[in-house]
Amino acid sequence: MKNKKGLLMLFYILTMFLSLGLNASSAHAEEVASDSSLEEIKEKGVLVIGTSADFPPYEFHATIDGKDTIVGMDIEIAKKIAEDIGVELEIKDMQFDSLIPALETNNIDMILAGMSATKERQVSVDFSDPYYFATQNIVIRAEDEELYASKKDFSGKVIGAQMGSLQETLAKSEMTDSELITLGQTTELLLSLKTGKLDAVVMEGPNALAFTGNDESLITFEGGFEGGETDGTAIAMRKDADTLVTAVNESLAEIKEQDLIPGYLAETGKHLETAPAEGETEAEKGSILDYWSYFLEGTGNTIFISVVSVLFGSLIGGLLALIRIGDNKFLRFFATAYVEFVRGTPMLIQVMFIYFAVGYLINIPALLAGIIAVSLNSGAYVCEIIRSGLASVPKGQIEAARSLGMSKKTAMRHIIFPQALKNIWPALGSEFVTIIKESSIVSVIGVSELIFQTRVVTSVSYRGIAPLAVSMVIYFILTFSLTKLLNYYEGKMAHD
Ligand code: ARG
Repeated sequence: MKNKKGLLMLFYILTMFLSLGLNASSAHAEEVASDSSLEEIKEKGVLVIGTSADFPPYEFHATIDGKDTIVGMDIEIAKKIAEDIGVELEIKDMQFDSLIPALETNNIDMILAGMSATKERQVSVDFSDPYYFATQNIVIRAEDEELYASKKDFSGKVIGAQMGSLQETLAKSEMTDSELITLGQTTELLLSLKTGKLDAVVMEGPNALAFTGNDESLITFEGGFEGGETDGTAIAMRKDADTLVTAVNESLAEIKEQDLIPGYLAETGKHLETAPAEGETEAEKGSILDYWSYFLEGTGNTIFISVVSVLFGSLIGGLLALIRIGDNKFLRFFATAYVEFVRGTPMLIQVMFIYFAVGYLINIPALLAGIIAVSLNSGAYVCEIIRSGLASVPKGQIEAARSLGMSKKTAMRHIIFPQALKNIWPALGSEFVTIIKESSIVSVIGVSELIFQTRVVTSVSYRGIAPLAVSMVIYFILTFSLTKLLNYYEGKMAHD
């Protein structure tokens, strides 16, 4: 009987989600049919581009006047397009493999990320005219120069490529004797190469040259790949966004006519030189703490997301717990279903679901989506904390209170709840600590919390271990001081 109920519950929830998805895609289709893509951007007054800023010289992070800025050839192109359309430019930085989903779900208007206009991608997006043609390279450690000269020399070796990139496809189809590892960011790939976890990285030519030009320990050569003959690097937009594509092509045509790309690259190159060269000693590279402002922003956001999510999570959890111990069968069923569903699915998917799927219907900023997802998630756990706290008070207590003539409500409020609180409080505290750590998951949708910022520091400082160590220490300080604080209050409560 119980199982049947559970199954029903699951079906109910799945149908709900499915119908949400269907509605969303039909709404999307309508919007596309009467192509108003350009009009909409003009109305909004802002062009939102998505990029993955780990890809010099196309796009990367640089510190300009002490401020973190995304620069690169693609960014210059985006500025020109926004200017031509007559709107502001907003840049959203995310992992390369999240870009197409973000575009499809209206979270961004176009992708400028050194993206090759491959046939596979043309199925789901429309591309502008190409604005650049690149070679495909292999990057290796300089000390291995004698060992490798072509893609054939890597049989039995471990090679890397960026997740969801053309290079991943090339490695898979043309280096079949090698073991392939894919990672989200090109900077992570290079760190893996330098620390010996990879023997080579397949990388786009200009990107490979930008990195190796700044790092004497790495060298690069053309891979001699047969595939990858694409239609060049282009800007991706939603399917059938014809008016927007036309506008973009006009800007690109001007860029071509006036030969602006070399200028963009030169402008960008200036910032590349600020990256520390490998020959430099640690001291010459400067301290990792020079990047304190990145860590500060990340820590601030992590605290903000955690505090807000714990507050809303407790509200949601409290409400759910009340429902679960209450008398209304229908609501009780719903609350149980909610708790089971949330606890039975990974928070990673919940975060992406809220951001991307809900983004279909209404456009919510990543930070808000992150907070909503974490709060909804935490609510389920808080509900269980409260419920088991209440259940931990011996039955005799309520029986005694009732036999003294107290109503159920009064007994709950004055007898049961104060006792339960002593169990609930510490568990709530550890939920808070958990949220501080787990909220790092929202970095996948591009929220600049501590983990996201740690990654950014990795790519601007070209260092792999130090940023991790700093971030680990910050997390520990946060959770440890919180635990101490909670213990203090818990101790006080024990004396009451
Ligand atoms: N051109 C390659 C592709 O389209 C790699 C692009 C990677 N871009 C980036 N911003 N990381 O797959």
